[in-house]
Amino acid sequence: MLQFLLTLIQILGLKGETNKKIIYMEDLEKRKQVYGICGECNEPGTGRKWCQPCNVKRFKDNFKNWTSGNKDIDEFIQQSQIDAVHYKKFLEWIPFENFKDITYITRGGFGKIFSAIWSEGCILSWDIENQKWERGINIKKVVLKSLDNSSCISTEFLNEIKSHLRIYLWNVIQCYGITQDPNSKDYMMVLRYCENGNLRNYYLNNELNCYSKIKNLKDIASGLLNIHNAGKIHKDFHSGNILFTSFPYISDLGMCQPTNNENQLAKKEGIYGVLPYMAPEVLRGYQYTKASDIYSFGIMMNEYLSEEIPYNNISHNHTLAIKICKGLRPNIFKYTPKNKYHSQMDEYDDKIKLNESDKKRSNNIQTHSQAIYTSRLLNFKDLPEPVNSDVLQSTLLSECFDCQLDESDLNEINQD
Ligand SMILES: *[C@@H]1O[C@H](CO)[C@@H](O)[C@H](O)[C@H]1NC(C)=O
Ligand SMILES: *[C@@H]1O[C@H](CO)[C@@H](O)[C@H](O)[C@H]1NC(C)=O
Ligand SMILES: *[C@@H]1O[C@H](CO)[C@@H](O)[C@H](O)[C@H]1NC(C)=O
Ligand SMILES: *[C@@H]1O[C@H](CO)[C@@H](O)[C@H](O)[C@H]1NC(C)=O
Ligand SMILES: *[C@@H]1O[C@H](CO)[C@@H](O)[C@H](O)[C@H]1NC(C)=O
Repeated sequence: MLQFLLTLIQILGLKGETNKKIIYMEDLEKRKQVYGICGECNEPGTGRKWCQPCNVKRFKDNFKNWTSGNKDIDEFIQQSQIDAVHYKKFLEWIPFENFKDITYITRGGFGKIFSAIWSEGCILSWDIENQKWERGINIKKVVLKSLDNSSCISTEFLNEIKSHLRIYLWNVIQCYGITQDPNSKDYMMVLRYCENGNLRNYYLNNELNCYSKIKNLKDIASGLLNIHNAGKIHKDFHSGNILFTSFPYISDLGMCQPTNNENQLAKKEGIYGVLPYMAPEVLRGYQYTKASDIYSFGIMMNEYLSEEIPYNNISHNHTLAIKICKGLRPNIFKYTPKNKYHSQMDEYDDKIKLNESDKKRSNNIQTHSQAIYTSRLLNFKDLPEPVNSDVLQSTLLSECFDCQLDESDLNEINQD
């Protein structure tokens, strides 16, 4: 349950903070220009085709018509609906029987993932003429994500979620609502389905040119920056957590936590993650930082450009952890632009076209049976300290990834 709640906290928390900056405008005149006038109350809208005061009345009238069976979850969803200034800013309680074709996809690090058809679709706006919600029926396929042991619930965590309720974030996956599997009693998040799978599926199944890859990396960098700018660290950033429609989205925000919030769980029992993407200092048990997220971004970026899955021909065991702490890194893709991404892009693309045969396809390589790419609990002891650990701790840099990537690089990748 803890994980389920943390993930919800993140989805809603991140939504609000960025939304406030990017979407919600206090200035009535501006709102009038951008969103127009509400057809019911004649006041400026609060979001695209959205009037908060009018829609709150409707939501409230409907509170008595649904229940999750859990008071805390009910209040949580209700509060999200009361606070919503935009259609992406609230959750719905969605009865399980509203889903069809429920198909098991896989086990994630923390729970099970199913796809399903939600023919109703998510609420987009109020249709004044027909006096009903207009729903987005173009996106019918959704993901149902349960988290292990999410059938019982703790009030503290819900309270924390409530304090994060004001949110929206681009490049991060949308959560439509919550449902409950009547058999297992597990609560499940209803999330956007990304038809192109994760980043690894995406590059293995598509011929991608360098322009589109750089464009995708910019979007991913922008998503990660949004998380960092909201004062959070993702903590479990890897290629399996970047999902694609035609655009990339960062998913799996369950581990994502405030910058200064020490993860007690991790301290006691080990750390969660996918070994190749985890910064050496994190493997040694030091706190996650923005820099360790950026280390993970670097590994992901190199994988995407080179199309080589990091360390997939060896076991992800203690020996590898030691090697990473001693400085082992994946082979840096030979055409990776070292400095200015955009000025060198044409040249870069030409080079790649010149010699397609250089591009290795990871799917030709036999993956080692102990190369594990889902998040799991890791607890390595007696890992070697870096030579310059004091420097690392004081500057909040992660250990070198060939050339050092930091927050300013992330900004640069994100800029155009
Ligand atoms: C709630 O349910 C009642 C009775 O079932 C119904 O009359 C009413 O229209 C519903 N309210 C909304 C907002 O759907
Ligand atoms: C759920 O919780 C129980 C008791 O706390 C534990 O024994 C079990 O392993 C947990 N299940 C999973 C899948 O984490
Ligand atoms: C694993 O693959 C890397 C990169 O292709 C290569 O350098 C290394 O020698 C391989 N190791 C083993 C044990 O096959
Ligand atoms: C880790 O796996 C490698 C092969 O990939 C093996 O040579 C090594 O002995 C293993 N180390 C441990 C500690 O199991
Ligand atoms: C392309 O790469 C292959 C293998 O690395 C090399 O043998 C070949 O000479 C290269 N061709 C060009 C045009 O650079």
